[in-house]
Amino acid sequence: MGATLTKLRLADRMSRLGTEGAFEVMMRAQRLEKLGRDIIHLEIGEPDFPTPLHIVEAAERALRDGWTHYSPPAGLPQLREAVAEDTSRRLGIPIDPSEVVITPGAKPIMFFALLALVQPGDEVLYPNPGFPIYESMIEFTGGRPVPYSLPEDREFDIDVGEVLEKLSERTRMIILNSPHNPTGGALGREEVAQLARALGERDVWVLSDEIYSRLLFEGEHASLAQFPGMKDRTIILNGFSKTYAMTGWRLGYGIMRRDLAEQMGRLMANSNSCTASFTQMAGIEALRGDQACVEAMREEFRRRRQVIVEGLNQIPGFRCHRPRGAFYVFPNITATGRSSHEVADALLEEAGVACLSGTAFGAGGEGYVRFSFANSIDNIRRALECIEGWAAKQLRL
Ligand SMILES: Cc1ncc(COP(=O)(O)O)c(C=O)c1O
Repeated sequence: MGATLTKLRLADRMSRLGTEGAFEVMMRAQRLEKLGRDIIHLEIGEPDFPTPLHIVEAAERALRDGWTHYSPPAGLPQLREAVAEDTSRRLGIPIDPSEVVITPGAKPIMFFALLALVQPGDEVLYPNPGFPIYESMIEFTGGRPVPYSLPEDREFDIDVGEVLEKLSERTRMIILNSPHNPTGGALGREEVAQLARALGERDVWVLSDEIYSRLLFEGEHASLAQFPGMKDRTIILNGFSKTYAMTGWRLGYGIMRRDLAEQMGRLMANSNSCTASFTQMAGIEALRGDQACVEAMREEFRRRRQVIVEGLNQIPGFRCHRPRGAFYVFPNITATGRSSHEVADALLEEAGVACLSGTAFGAGGEGYVRFSFANSIDNIRRALECIEGWAAKQLRL
């Protein structure tokens, strides 16, 4: 007989904490698999490729060479230097290693940026639909979430006019994400320029989530930090998870003005102490080593994009835009006559295809579902057949 547990009394702030639907759907799908069901996984947002071998070998070497101890909270100077050099070259702006903070995955940068800069009641603009952790973290840290939309008829690009209308005296931060999860939309250079001009002298921070910036299929990545006067108010969030298929390594970074970087170092000292030293050493190899692996993965994603967009557009009830970046499609499913949740549930239970309801990315995702095409072309084709069969039987459109 175990002792009776008293009721768990949580701090109030825990009621403001959200979650990430992808992990929940993955667990549901795995339960179905245990019961013998065949499920095709199009729910999870991580490259299905193994981490490139030269990066794995660098980590092995680092382990053998004794990189198994604490490192400075803001990261190893060598990696901060490599990140500064890499981003500086890609964006064409000067970046000093003291402006780089290394974290276990990129997610902590979101949390730390909000913790460090947003006071209770401050407004934070964020994309809805958007990565669910934005809204969760804004709420958790006491900010007031102010959603902006990403209209499908603008290819899910931001409507700068709408964002500007939503700016108020209380706006403390704007979160941008390009290329965007879940829509695959990407900010055009003209939109970013317009935003930069409009922000002008306003005292507003921008958290620019650029984690998919190397997974752009068309055009060039544009970052607000590239525009005059914007670098010092922009926090660039980026990392190794998506670019180098390193989701499980937990290695990411933020780039921001030096005084804020020092504060983030304090947040690291108070939470993680530091990021694992041998993974940081592998990160240097990822950035400075051969980049052919990044191009090869992007080209494979491009081929998959073609298959999934064409396939979905042939299924009655689904209308799918061609994403400009990342590895997600966000088809409109309003013609099915069912809610996003109903469609995602039915696809898992009845068609054996795991995907996410658009509403897992906020209320603005109603009318859509998200498929990740981080799966093989064979599996994507099988999934399309299952969805088509399901639609023909259940929707009768
Ligand atoms: C838009 C976006 N930002 C950040 C992250 C987090 O990246 P990491 O795994 O490096 O923490 C993700 C992961 O799914 C993402 O989709």
